[in-house]
Amino acid sequence: MHRIAVVPGSFDPVTLGHLDVIGRAAGLFDELHVLVVHNPAKTALLPIAQRVSLLEQAIREQGLPDNILVTSWSVGLLVDYCTEVGASVLVKGIRSQVDVAYETPMAIVNRDLAGVETVFLLPNPAHAHVSSSLVRQVSALGGDVSPYVPAAVANYLQSRGD
Ligand code: PNS
Repeated sequence: MHRIAVVPGSFDPVTLGHLDVIGRAAGLFDELHVLVVHNPAKTALLPIAQRVSLLEQAIREQGLPDNILVTSWSVGLLVDYCTEVGASVLVKGIRSQVDVAYETPMAIVNRDLAGVETVFLLPNPAHAHVSSSLVRQVSALGGDVSPYVPAAVANYLQSRGD
């Protein structure tokens, strides 16, 4: 059986924490789709196409497995994408109890809607404090984000003057 899993998220921008989870998930499934999804609850920093491009560069930069595909989805439910590509599993990284509280209702709704299961992976503790929102804030205030993001993202944010 060819198992396809999806790692969805805003990835605004992708962090080393995301890449840790993506790399680990790629080893568990035949195909891993990293899906950039607009989250209406958040104010975006980067356009979706730029987030996809930075993810692709970062995955190459880190030498992650080549069963990873990066794409985006903006026309409906996350599980509609899963149904369209034949994915049966969502993968999410869980850093804390706050993430558990945030992710649990979404996991239950996604299973109710389409029978898609969610697998939670624990991150490398070195990245447990890293989040895109923290990176956006540090970057906007002129701080150095290079310990938290891949070089492609650090260079891009620096070149934008963020
Ligand atoms: O990185 P984020 O912002 O925490 O990711 C959240 C995301 C984009 C995965 C979530 O908002 C989502 O699944 N959006 C798609 C819309 C959807 O399907 N909603 C209903 C089920 S939760």
